[in-house]
Amino acid sequence: MTTASRRLAPGRIVLASHNAGKLREFDELMAPFGFDVVSAGALDLPEPEETGTTFEANAELKARAAAEAAGLPALADDSGFCVAALDGAPGIYSARWAGPDKDFAMAMRTVAEKLSAAGVAQAEGARASFVAVLCLAWPDGHAEFFRGEVEGEIAWPPRGDGGFGYDPMFRPDGHTRTFAEMSSQEKHGWSRTGPALSHRARAFQAFSAACLERA
Ligand code: IMP
Repeated sequence: MTTASRRLAPGRIVLASHNAGKLREFDELMAPFGFDVVSAGALDLPEPEETGTTFEANAELKARAAAEAAGLPALADDSGFCVAALDGAPGIYSARWAGPDKDFAMAMRTVAEKLSAAGVAQAEGARASFVAVLCLAWPDGHAEFFRGEVEGEIAWPPRGDGGFGYDPMFRPDGHTRTFAEMSSQEKHGWSRTGPALSHRARAFQAFSAACLERA
């Protein structure tokens, strides 16, 4: 038996993330729904350690910590870049590959070096995907999950100045430009009627269909 999703009425919601790139994208995605979105950082909520071994577990621990601390529904995203020939790495460790300085130029070079060490002749064209899992947690302990994925290829060398993280080295299937060469609207690929493109927008579309009513 499946349980119907709990509807989220417009009001205050916490975005349980301290990542500026994600917060900007969620602000854009939430905008049409009439929510008062407040970030975990703005509420001075601590950033929990991501001790989970799956995207779901890490999204859940971030969402639950924020919902309990703020007494509000909280939405968290755990996401990552997954390279097929590296058995899905960096995956849940995507942020950590950039080190404490959040050096994504280095993280992207690490991906290319590991592909070379794994015997892949060139990084360009290697299969990769982005994954995002959203967890919506409520102060009473109720929690729901929504997953989005987008398949594509590695672009090497990286291209484009937009986006964040690994965007310059990812070209979604059916496109010639990397995520970093697209506007954020193109990266979301999401209109009232059209399909979503990015992993985050796909997960968000599933979340909004289940839990939100458009304002
Ligand atoms: P976490 O979910 O906070 O553990 O961080 C996920 C990490 O995955 C980010 O810091 C980025 O490095 C990477 N990532 C997730 N989503 C995206 C995206 O849309 N573009 C580029 N990199 C991303």
